[in-house]
Amino acid sequence: MSHPLTNATLGHLVIERPGRAKVFERWELDYCCGGDRPLGDACKQKGIDLQAVLDDLQALDAAGATETEIDWTKASLTELADHIEAAHHAYLREALPRLTFLIEKVVNAHGERHPELRDIQVIFAGLRTELEVHTGKEERILFPLCRLLDDAEMLPPFHCGSLRNPIYVMEIEHDNAGRALERLRILTHGFAPPKGACGTYRAMLDGLAELEADTHLHIHKENNILFPRALAREAALAAAGH
Ligand SMILES: [Fe+2]
Ligand SMILES: [Fe+2]
Repeated sequence: MSHPLTNATLGHLVIERPGRAKVFERWELDYCCGGDRPLGDACKQKGIDLQAVLDDLQALDAAGATETEIDWTKASLTELADHIEAAHHAYLREALPRLTFLIEKVVNAHGERHPELRDIQVIFAGLRTELEVHTGKEERILFPLCRLLDDAEMLPPFHCGSLRNPIYVMEIEHDNAGRALERLRILTHGFAPPKGACGTYRAMLDGLAELEADTHLHIHKENNILFPRALAREAALAAAGH
C-alpha cells in the first residue's frame, strides 16, 4: 500500500504544513505553478526517489517543525491579500533593484570569464519587468476585487466579467516567472558559486536563490490558496443570487 502522502498534491501538502516547502525546494519539486500534481507522480516525472522525499517529510514532522506560518486557508481574503502584499510584494520591491545592481557589478567584473553572466542579466531584467508589472496589476485590480468579496452579500459587478479572467492572466504570468527562475537556476548551476567567486558574486547568487524561494512561496499562496478561495466565494455569491 502506498504512503498516504503519495497521492496528495504538492500544493495541498504545503497548504497543510507550510514548512514542507523547504523540503520541496531542496528536491526542486515545483509546488507552486505545478502544485496540482500528486507527490508520487511529481517524483516519478523528475526521476527522484519518492521514499527519500517521504523520509525528509517525516524527519520534518519528527523535528516538530515550528509552524510560524498562519493557516491561510482560515484567514479572510483581505487578510491573505494584505499579507501577500506586505510580505512578498514588499520583498520584491527591495530585492529586485538590489539584484539588478549586484548583477551589473558582477557582469562588469567577471563577464569575460563567465559569459553566461550576460544571459543571466538579460533573463533577470525580463523577470524584473514582468514581476513589477504583474504585482502592480494584482495590487490595483485583482486584490481589491478579492477584498470586495469578503463582505459582499451579493455578487459585486466586476468590470472584468468574472474573477476567472484576471486570475487566468495572473496564472500565465506566474508560469512565465517560474520558467525564468528555472533558467536562472540552470545557468548558475543551482546558484552555486564558482571557484574563487568574490563576495559580490556570492551575494548575487544568494540573492537569486532567495528570490527563487520567496517567489515559489508567493505564487503558491496565490495559485493554491487565494485564487481558488476567491473563485469559490464568487461562485457561492453567484449561486445565492439565483
Ligand atoms: Fe503577488
Ligand atoms: Fe502573482
